[in-house]
Amino acid sequence: MTRNRINATDMSIETTYNPKKPGTLILGASEFKVADLRDDVLQYDFKASMRFLEAKGKILFGRHFKIHVEDHELLYKLVTYFIEDKRVANKFKIDLNKGILLSGPVGCGKTTLMRLLPHLVPHKRHYQTSLMPCRNIVFGFNNLGYKIIEDYADNKPYCFDDLGVEPIGRHYGKDCNVMGEILITRYDVIMNQKLSHRAQSRCHITTNLNSNEIENRYGERVRSRMRELFNLISFSSVSKDKRG
Ligand SMILES: Nc1ncnc2c1ncn2[C@@H]1O[C@H](COP(=O)(O)OP(=O)(O)O)[C@@H](O)[C@H]1O
Ligand SMILES: [Mg+2]
Repeated sequence: MTRNRINATDMSIETTYNPKKPGTLILGASEFKVADLRDDVLQYDFKASMRFLEAKGKILFGRHFKIHVEDHELLYKLVTYFIEDKRVANKFKIDLNKGILLSGPVGCGKTTLMRLLPHLVPHKRHYQTSLMPCRNIVFGFNNLGYKIIEDYADNKPYCFDDLGVEPIGRHYGKDCNVMGEILITRYDVIMNQKLSHRAQSRCHITTNLNSNEIENRYGERVRSRMRELFNLISFSSVSKDKRG
């Protein structure tokens, strides 16, 4: 019997999607059948998706990576969102035109999941997000000023990582709540788009803050716009730190 092995240190293995075999993802020498094509719709199998994500996670993050059973419920929602299952999304009150605000305690795996999940849908280009640590955005603002806020007001699908840990921005002696301004600017851009285009410019956020803390830090003006931009998906507040 031949066995497929995944080299956990090889970061170069990309997930590939073979249009001739819809629902099958290829990872190095392994194939993962994650979905069946029925009536032109890919029906994903949750357990098979978890097997794929665990294998991909080991490649991206190291052999210690595993899918934790206690995260299944949360992963079910995230998978629903990424595969765009409208029926289940309705059930969970997830709006596919909005982004995801993934919240939870430090170290529970938010950033890791936002890096991992896009690999389940390599054929959906607008799901391939670029992760931007909020701290780095503020450092950029401190150097370059308001240009940075304009730069993030485009319609690229960013994931703003770790909202709430960034310091207040300061450029030429003037203070600015940089992430708050970016979110308000993006809100205006997105709301001026047709509904059918909004899904393309969604952005996502990871944060350790809860809703009250977000409001205290960014104010009601930002908080209320965030409600319209994001689906809140939360780890349990007692989720353990996964740092080994
Ligand atoms: N499912 C997992 N299995 C094993 N290790 C994990 C898992 N999720 C995250 N980790 C590890 O735990 C640490 C924290 O994960 P991270 O995604 O940065 O957490 P957060 O963004 O919620 O603070 C990282 O070192 C990461 O590699
Ligand atoms: Mg993080």
